Amino acid sequence: MTTTFTAVAHPNIALIKYWGKSDEELILPASPSFSMTLDAYPTTTTVRLDATAAEDSLSLDGRAAGAGQRARVSAFLDLVRQRAGRRERVVVESRNTVPTGAGLASSAAGFAALAGAASAAFGLDLDLEELSRLARRGSGSASRSVHPGFALWRTGDDAGSYAEGLDAGDLDAALVIVVLNDAAKAVSSRVAMRATAETSPFYSAWLQASNDDLDQMLAAFEARDLDGMGQVAERNALRMHASMLGAVPPIRYLGADSFTVLDAVAALRAEGLTAYATMDAGPNVKVLCPAGQASRIAEALARVVPAASIITAGMGPGVRVYSGETAGG
Ligand code: ADP
Ligand code: DP6
Ligand code: CO
Repeated sequence: MTTTFTAVAHPNIALIKYWGKSDEELILPASPSFSMTLDAYPTTTTVRLDATAAEDSLSLDGRAAGAGQRARVSAFLDLVRQRAGRRERVVVESRNTVPTGAGLASSAAGFAALAGAASAAFGLDLDLEELSRLARRGSGSASRSVHPGFALWRTGDDAGSYAEGLDAGDLDAALVIVVLNDAAKAVSSRVAMRATAETSPFYSAWLQASNDDLDQMLAAFEARDLDGMGQVAERNALRMHASMLGAVPPIRYLGADSFTVLDAVAALRAEGLTAYATMDAGPNVKVLCPAGQASRIAEALARVVPAASIITAGMGPGVRVYSGETAGG
């Protein structure tokens, strides 16, 4: 019998975005970010240690992952091995239910799940703060997916930069997720944010504005003011996209249909609904709204972008880890 460790984690959507690093190797963010972990699109990652293998292996969605994807996972596992003082290679099998690389936070769910499963497999007993710090090294956004509901990821040094969970109280929030294109992006989040930092004249203004946006977001969150949160979130997302439009060459993830959805969201607001859009490193649009308005918003958006697939997500759980036994090995 072989012991396996399985972790389940969900994507999170930032309402104040992380877009730029102060340290590429440690994955320290240049500005703080704030997010909601989803109850949709779970990623399930199972690991087992293999003392005889020469290399780590990664299967993603039932197929051998690409060399770049495997190298990224292996570099992450090196950190876990180093911390545990161990040497075994790891067999990783992961399944995303979220489209991979489409701007729907697969890297957040993927590395939160891997951090949970691999740390357990190597006998590390990490609390949520340590797990967040570890997940951060796989993908910055993964630091937030270890937590349920809302999370705040602060800037800091290696020890100080981790996400903390925030109590949402009786806040009523959902995200209507409009999937316009589920294909993997041509330029990864990592490469695009580096290019923005290095070449966009708007980058320093983005960091300043985003810090200010965070203060207003936290005040609205404390007041359970979803309209206030939505106004800041929509503005913050557009400011992030503006920063990358200024890069050389320009980075543009939003398509014509993304703007069609933005117009429709503004029209819904004009009708009195609480609906605000946010977009990540991809064309897909997520609409923040109260749960009770989600179906009406989803139906209205389905009429303007009939080819889109639309789902509604609520606040989801943090990472969960299970151990089990399988035959063979
Ligand atoms: P996304 O918008 O989906 O987060 P990114 O460019 O940030 O896109 O990251 C996509 C990359 O994250 C993938 O190419 C892969 O390297 C990694 N990734 C995604 N899901 C997983 C997973 N379940 N396990 C390991 N790595 C993953
Ligand atoms: C636009 O966390 O995917 O979704 O740290 O390089 O892996 P790496 O990047 P990643 O970037 C996420 C960018 C974003 C905004 C956000 O989630 O805060
Ligand atoms: Co990502």
